Amino acid sequence: MKLLVATASLVLLAAGNLALGQQTLPRIVQKDGRYALFVDGAPYLILGAQVNNSSAWPAVLPKVWPAIEALHANTIEMPVYWEQMEPQEKHFDFSIVDTLLLQAREHHLHLVLLWFGTWKNGSGHYTPEWMKRRPDLYPHMLDARGQTVDSLSPYAPATLEADTLAFSALLRHLKDTDLEHTVLMVQVENEPGTWGLVRDYSPRAEKLFQSNVPQSLLSAMHWQGTPNTGSWPQVFGADAEEFFHAWSVASFIGHVAAAGKAIYPLPLYTNAALRDPLHPGHPPSYESGGPTDNVLAIWKAAAPALDLLAPDIYMSDGPRYEKVLDLYSRPDNPLLVPETGNSPAFAPFFFAALGHGAIGFSPFGIDQTGYSNAPLGASRIDEETLAPFAANYKLIEPMDREIARLNFEGKLQAVTEEKGRPSQTLSFGKWHADIAYGLLQFGYNKNPPGNPEPVGRALVAQLSDNQFLVTGFFCRVDFTVADTTSGKKRQFLRVEEGNFQDAKFVPTRIWNGDQTDYALNFTSMPQVLRVKLDTY
Ligand code: DGJ
Repeated sequence: MKLLVATASLVLLAAGNLALGQQTLPRIVQKDGRYALFVDGAPYLILGAQVNNSSAWPAVLPKVWPAIEALHANTIEMPVYWEQMEPQEKHFDFSIVDTLLLQAREHHLHLVLLWFGTWKNGSGHYTPEWMKRRPDLYPHMLDARGQTVDSLSPYAPATLEADTLAFSALLRHLKDTDLEHTVLMVQVENEPGTWGLVRDYSPRAEKLFQSNVPQSLLSAMHWQGTPNTGSWPQVFGADAEEFFHAWSVASFIGHVAAAGKAIYPLPLYTNAALRDPLHPGHPPSYESGGPTDNVLAIWKAAAPALDLLAPDIYMSDGPRYEKVLDLYSRPDNPLLVPETGNSPAFAPFFFAALGHGAIGFSPFGIDQTGYSNAPLGASRIDEETLAPFAANYKLIEPMDREIARLNFEGKLQAVTEEKGRPSQTLSFGKWHADIAYGLLQFGYNKNPPGNPEPVGRALVAQLSDNQFLVTGFFCRVDFTVADTTSGKKRQFLRVEEGNFQDAKFVPTRIWNGDQTDYALNFTSMPQVLRVKLDTY
């Protein structure tokens, strides 16, 4: 009898733990077309940083942590190298993964792991040596003349099997060892696809290309007005080769992702090397096969185990950046910016990303290894470079959960200045928030000139009908009554500066006089205001 009771309690305990484990597993949640990454049961904002490609080695980590700390990041994106993790076929070495988890925890950071598998920037350079030595089994793609190219074929069963096995082993290891859920998400491959060639021309590929387009894709694409049936060229005409490659790469990755997810259902995503969002052109002017904006529907249909498709944004001009944010924040796709440029010009776009509902943002190449995309010899990742990114994160970090929640609930709007666009208006029902850039702190000026460089950014969140959380850099924020015929004018009932402690706004002073007479001016200082409005 005692034994029975003991066994029953154990079972209950295990069930309880399981429920707890399931509950605390990071997951993507959707509500009313908006998304959040839930961590420990509440929305979480990834204040991210991605290290350089060859920095996830124990010997290099001492050069990583200081940069991440200086940035005030809460999450670090680190590669897992297939060649290191499976040095011999089916013999896995998780020692580095374990080190990453351990040291991330010591630094109070969450992790996003990047699976550098069959594709890393379109090539198979991270496949283990035992694969590289067997191109017969793990073949490269062929161009139209039958020459091999530096990208693996998505049609090789052995490659698919090997990648699926290795990725599954990684997720199984995380399931077994990461009981604290330090790892929030896993990126499946890195900028997959192919540079310089639109698709594989191997005999196997040719046969598939001339076969009927799979019915599942046709159903998913139906709204785009494609004919109902036929071969790829018949159905997709001029887009056939590109769509075919996207379907092939996405199907491969969808298979790998689904196998991993069946073992341990962490949020999974794949990142894209983008095409120009304003003047796209055609491959090979951009990488073919990856989740570029024109083939997102194909990727969604082929790889449903991926929770999202994410843009790596290295275009620093406002119109292009914002267009990319538009294209990747879709009702069926949570927005994550897993990589963006690390020069100061990119930092303000953190706000634009938040304004598009992003669940995370991450500059690339954040460590002190001295490696960067700058000309040889010029190491740019110093405090000065990081300062505008650090300012963003330092400002938001104390209230990151609040910001994530407000964004998830659709109460937050955030914007970045654009050259030639010196003011912006945000609509909050009966109130407008008017953002202006480049004004003097004292004085009225109806025609803001804009900052010399577009460094302005602002965030406004509605806390209740007449109360707002307001912050930003290099901008002026004012509120006006939306109904211009009402004759009513806004008055500040109370403008409090403060900070967040334990998720609560704690006021430290009231702004008035010069600090509110010309509306609310934000400089380079990290300042957060709670603003109560009325009319007269
Ligand atoms: C995008 C890739 O995803 C990264 O791994 C890295 O190669 C950067 N480009 C370099 O700019």
